[in-house]
Amino acid sequence: MQNAFGVTGGAGFIGTNLCQKLVLASHPVVIFDDLSRVGAEKNLRWLCEKYPQQVHFIRGDIAKDKEKLKEFVEHSDVIFHLAGQVAVTKSLADPKHDFAVNVHGTFNLLEAIRHSDKKPGLIYASTNKVYGDLVDLQVSENRYRFELVNSPLGVTEKQPLDFSSPYGCSKGAADQYVRDYARSYGLSTVVLRQSCIYGPRQFGVEDQGWLAWFVIAAITGQPITIYGNGKQVRDVLFIEDLTELFLALARNIECFSGETFNVGGGPENTISLLEFIEALEDILGKKIPYGFADARVGDQPIYISDIRKVTSMTGWSPKNTVKGGVTGLIQWVKENENLFLEHQAAQHS
Ligand SMILES: NC(=O)c1ccc[n+]([C@@H]2O[C@H](COP(=O)([O-])OP(=O)(O)OC[C@H]3O[C@@H](n4cnc5c(N)ncnc54)[C@H](O)[C@@H]3O)[C@@H](O)[C@H]2O)c1
Repeated sequence: MQNAFGVTGGAGFIGTNLCQKLVLASHPVVIFDDLSRVGAEKNLRWLCEKYPQQVHFIRGDIAKDKEKLKEFVEHSDVIFHLAGQVAVTKSLADPKHDFAVNVHGTFNLLEAIRHSDKKPGLIYASTNKVYGDLVDLQVSENRYRFELVNSPLGVTEKQPLDFSSPYGCSKGAADQYVRDYARSYGLSTVVLRQSCIYGPRQFGVEDQGWLAWFVIAAITGQPITIYGNGKQVRDVLFIEDLTELFLALARNIECFSGETFNVGGGPENTISLLEFIEALEDILGKKIPYGFADARVGDQPIYISDIRKVTSMTGWSPKNTVKGGVTGLIQWVKENENLFLEHQAAQHS
């Protein structure tokens, strides 16, 4: 196998889009994934059929398969670490598994890099959840959304860490390990604290990937439940913008080593759940039925990434508007409706 960019979780939503971006920029990729995510096999098949020469696959569990991880690291020039347990709800139901994958898995990867000869750089997909419930931020409420009263530009990297939920703890612990391996061992590592990412090849489910889930549910006629009052606000980032940033960072990873960046759509690209439903109704030209249930643990009322640090250090900023990005997602769901219907049928058989 020739040397390549390595992507753990490369068959997931962000991973598949990133692999395509890398291949189109003439970088072959090696994927490390256990295919545990629903839809991952479909994503992998799509990638391998489209780019048979440039995509290599190692099937393995990051929490357990250390020898395979070693092989993966040996073939990687820079590694994007995306594999993970990704849902807060699942972390509450099975915190041990969440810990094993997110903390132990990340630790295994860092150790494999530390003990390798060429020590590839590492870019880690962390999350805004490391800032916890943000109780120190003043929040007001209007008819459709929560608002940040004193910090309209959003949350900076100086916000104190305050892990909430097992998912917040496991991602936060991994985030700090990745940072520290730059300090303690001189590895080239970068942490991206991502907010809500959305786009094609996202098999969103009720537990995770809410924006894609709303689109899939609306198109395939499945019931939507809003947990809480629906005024929760997120700054949403279209996948193409995120992969652009990943590539720019990877090409100059030494310049950004040890850095942590908040990454999302920023103040220009915020939307509440209620506003999103209304926008979807407009685009699809039909009423979307939905119900309400109690708010979920660890669900921040509002999160907006302050992206000034990443913009000033890299020159990157989001290019896609919410309307443009969502239209791209809708188009993919409509073109692939059979994938979701197949999945629904399998679940109910
Ligand atoms: N999508 C978002 O909005 C968002 C926001 C913040 C952070 N993140 C982080 O970004 C990363 C990628 O997210 P995504 O939305 O693409 O998720 P995803 O679930 O689509 O992709 C994760 C991939 O990891 C794989 N995986 C899971 N457990 C594994 C294990 N033990 N060993 C090997 N592979 C394993 C899955 O099969 C899947 O292909 C995750 O780490 C997530 O925490 C995502």
